[in-house]
Amino acid sequence: MTARSRSILDMNAFQGIAGGDALLARRLANFGAASVLFYDQPIELVRGRGQWLEAADGTSYLDFYNNVMSVGHCHPHVTAAITAQVSELTINSRYLHPKVETYLEQLKATLPVALSNAVLCCSGSEANDLAMRIAMKATNARGFIVTEAAYHGNTRAVTEISPASWTRGGCPEHVRIVAAPTVAAYGADPGAGFAAAIATASADLKAAGFGLAAFICDSILSSDGVHADPPGFLAMAADAARAAGGLCIADEVQPGFGRTGAGMWGFSRHGFVPDIVTIGKPMGNGYPIAGVVTRPELLAQFCEDTGYFNTFGANPVAAAAGLAVLEVIRDEGLIANAARRGDALLSALRDIAARSDRIAAIRGAGLFLGIEMSGPDAGVTVRCMTEAMRARRILIGAAGRFGETLKLRPPLSLTEEDAEFFLKGFAEALDGLPATQ
Ligand SMILES: Cc1ncc(COP(=O)(O)O)c(C=O)c1O
Repeated sequence: MTARSRSILDMNAFQGIAGGDALLARRLANFGAASVLFYDQPIELVRGRGQWLEAADGTSYLDFYNNVMSVGHCHPHVTAAITAQVSELTINSRYLHPKVETYLEQLKATLPVALSNAVLCCSGSEANDLAMRIAMKATNARGFIVTEAAYHGNTRAVTEISPASWTRGGCPEHVRIVAAPTVAAYGADPGAGFAAAIATASADLKAAGFGLAAFICDSILSSDGVHADPPGFLAMAADAARAAGGLCIADEVQPGFGRTGAGMWGFSRHGFVPDIVTIGKPMGNGYPIAGVVTRPELLAQFCEDTGYFNTFGANPVAAAAGLAVLEVIRDEGLIANAARRGDALLSALRDIAARSDRIAAIRGAGLFLGIEMSGPDAGVTVRCMTEAMRARRILIGAAGRFGETLKLRPPLSLTEEDAEFFLKGFAEALDGLPATQ
């Protein structure tokens, strides 16, 4: 990473002092240096319903950012399922409970049949940490390849493969980074260039004595700035990793559970079956549940050494939340809605971009969209836009190695009216940008 790269936690971050705000002062006193808040003036939220959030001062915000409450804030079906189960029984995973098995059977029905074992845990970080260990055991290698602004979570091992978290120091010696598949990085055929970069990085890891344990990739490269196309590039990348003896881990923590509008999983758009899939965030619509899904032999090999137990993973309340989320996605047709609303947004945003030199590119799939701003100060423009959108009661985020891309991830239940509200606010915020940034 160069000096200009931005840490993921710095993007759209509050950097001021509490001033007269008593709640902010308490927050800073309690969290200390680990406090991370959004916006120049952090928002105190009190309630969420569907696509909308209500702040303590009575302002309502359209949520175009939060990928956890993916079927809508406080969805009544999910809330009722959690409430009923927590009122009846919650217990660790070393006892039998039919809801846990029903959940895993329904989850597996959405995945390739080869991936028939699942381990449940509580966060995407735990899932990726376990996936790394499974891959190292299976390959007897220690090296990992990641994209250059990847974020995979917060454990020690996972931070080492998350360039977006590195604020100082270089790349760990067992890690190699590859640029996202763009024409700027690889020329006319970004998919082939990306796969070739993985082959080169694998050879380098082998020469350094680490070998390749896995190529791990967020299937929509969200922190790299949202890169969905061309469909199929991840299949070529997986082939390159496997040719070098490594596994392919699809990190579905961001794109999973229907967000891309092309089936349940981001990797399905690319037409390949990963060796390990990690899932989390929207899985419980706010209840902390995550997991690793893989082939039985890979898990069996790993368990020869240590086995795996997670106190809160696979508890019946988590299963109730997960099951209710799957039911809502199915019953409300949310994948089709993500495709329909996402396509409409993409084309409306491309129309706006065609008339504005402030926008460099519009990317994405379904309801996971990225708007890359143009110019050397694109990161500053992104910051201005997130604040200007907040002033118009719309919450969005930032992504990309230099924080140059606006990140959009509204709930999958987005309506046409919500989309229009967003587009109006976006066009106004763009028009209101200062002439030079
Ligand atoms: C792609 C990806 N993987 C993993 C994680 C880590 O998930 P968690 O914060 O639940 O540990 C994140 C979190 O933002 C993520 O974006």
